[in-house]
Amino acid sequence: MEKWKTLGYYNGVFGPLEEMTVPMNDRACYFGDGVYEAAYVGNYRIFTLDDHVDRIYRSASMAEIEIPCTKDEMKAVLTEMAQKLESPEQVIYWQVTRGTAMRAHVYPDRSVKANLWITCTPKAIVNAYRKIRVITAEDTRFFHCNIKTLNLMVNCMLSEQAKKAGCEEAIQHRGDRVTEGTHSNVSILKDGVFQTAPTDNLILPGITRAHLIEICRRLSVPVREEPYTVQELMDADEIIISSSTGFARSVCEADGRPVGGKAPKLLKALQDALREEFIADTGIDPGLVPSGDS
Ligand code: PDD
Repeated sequence: MEKWKTLGYYNGVFGPLEEMTVPMNDRACYFGDGVYEAAYVGNYRIFTLDDHVDRIYRSASMAEIEIPCTKDEMKAVLTEMAQKLESPEQVIYWQVTRGTAMRAHVYPDRSVKANLWITCTPKAIVNAYRKIRVITAEDTRFFHCNIKTLNLMVNCMLSEQAKKAGCEEAIQHRGDRVTEGTHSNVSILKDGVFQTAPTDNLILPGITRAHLIEICRRLSVPVREEPYTVQELMDADEIIISSSTGFARSVCEADGRPVGGKAPKLLKALQDALREEFIADTGIDPGLVPSGDS
């Protein structure tokens, strides 16, 4: 099989990602009118693929976008693309946009089909145990954060702000209430309880978050899906940042102040369980990479 360094796919046509072009009238270009997913690939296997495919169908349904293939067809094409990449360790990203039509805010005619985009890019696995630094920032996004849409302008602005502060993530809050990161969910451990924001319209229902909740239930760790404040975040025994590409790493510093580090055993038990799920699925160990990684 021919192997590629990077791969871009658009409605059945694929080639090196850097050389791919798309129609200007794709509604992604004007409105960011589409929904997406990103998953980690180890050994050419897409981790938690079923969960991601289920979620993009849910996002599309909330956005009234009709996905032009079945779930099984989507899984098949994603798996095929992942296998074409040279690197066995990748991020696979895909989006479905509301089709191609002259610019108009209203939806195009029903005869206009949605577009499927896929990218595969090599990405070394991160060390699931490495601690990270964060900033906190007001969440000024809209009220549809449960839909994984392409509209990520604020997420980008805050990611950049975090980077300028020498940090890896910005934890957002609406007033006092912690919502989520710019590309991750945020949970805390306090007095043996795993607490995480509820899955309302203010956060994305993260797949890693859902797996952590399942793990807690298995390990008899109490789970509280209730809002918590910035003060509670700062006072937490541990702060956990979770995402498909970053696992469930903990925070050692927020806004320049030391945080967490007070429940290392429980934290490690959760991280170990997630790591085991990943190894079982892919055969790759996210605990064995050198700690200077990203
Ligand atoms: N982002 N919240 C937001 C806003 C996100 O963008 C993400 C993931 C998450 C975590 O969800 P999950 O555990 O399902 O990856 C929460 C991906 C990684 C991205 O945008 O690249």
